[in-house]
Amino acid sequence: MRKQIIGSSWKMHINSINMAEETGEDLNKLLGHESRVEMFILPSFPMIPKLSEVLKNSSIKYGAQNMCYEEKGAFTGEVPPLVLKELGCSYVEIGHAERRSYFNERDENINKKVRLAFKYGMIPVVCIGEEERDKKENIGEIKIRSQILWALNGLSKEDAQEVILAYEPVWAIGKEEAASVDYVENMHGHIRDIVKKELGEEVSKNIRIIYGGSVGPENSKELSKREDIDGVFVGRFGLEAENFKSIVDNFIR
Ligand code: 13P
Repeated sequence: MRKQIIGSSWKMHINSINMAEETGEDLNKLLGHESRVEMFILPSFPMIPKLSEVLKNSSIKYGAQNMCYEEKGAFTGEVPPLVLKELGCSYVEIGHAERRSYFNERDENINKKVRLAFKYGMIPVVCIGEEERDKKENIGEIKIRSQILWALNGLSKEDAQEVILAYEPVWAIGKEEAASVDYVENMHGHIRDIVKKELGEEVSKNIRIIYGGSVGPENSKELSKREDIDGVFVGRFGLEAENFKSIVDNFIR
């Protein structure tokens, strides 16, 4: 049985350490003892030490929105995986659409990051998803297949089944409306089939696939009812602790 998992990336919406501290405290008050679902938040790097204090002994785990694809060396401005580990990060987000498009993140490096996440004992949250133009030309599924193959390339089955695949169609991120629940469910089934074909039944049964892209308290109700949707990955509508809690509550079975 896969445990439901709800994550929130603060991106740069929360843009001060004070605000991060307050939000972390609010979340902890509401959900710090909730153990029926898994929860994580992903603040900006410099906020992590403060959140590690606020969320000490909390059920809410934290992680980073990115990290370097190498362990050390001349990589100006990058953050080493070891530092994230030292700061107590349980998760690291890899390959978000904004990183793929604004920062030219490539599949090869995404794969390196996934492997490093395991080396340093963190769970990678790997973002995959087709763009509007892929969808229009009916090649969304092919695009996703390629992203999955790259992301999981070279992983053992034990590691592969721990990966969290965040299905985030690029055309549904930051919009008024999310993808329809039927569309998401269908894609999740497709993703699970790809994993089954490449890594076997066991991995495909255990791997968790969550949906991201304009998720909020309302549409998360319907998303939570679908068998193949193991949780959601929230942006704008999860920044208020109350909203995040409503979303989490929807996923409690
Ligand atoms: P929004 O929920 O703001 O659309 O962002 C989704 C997302 O990209 C989460 O990683």
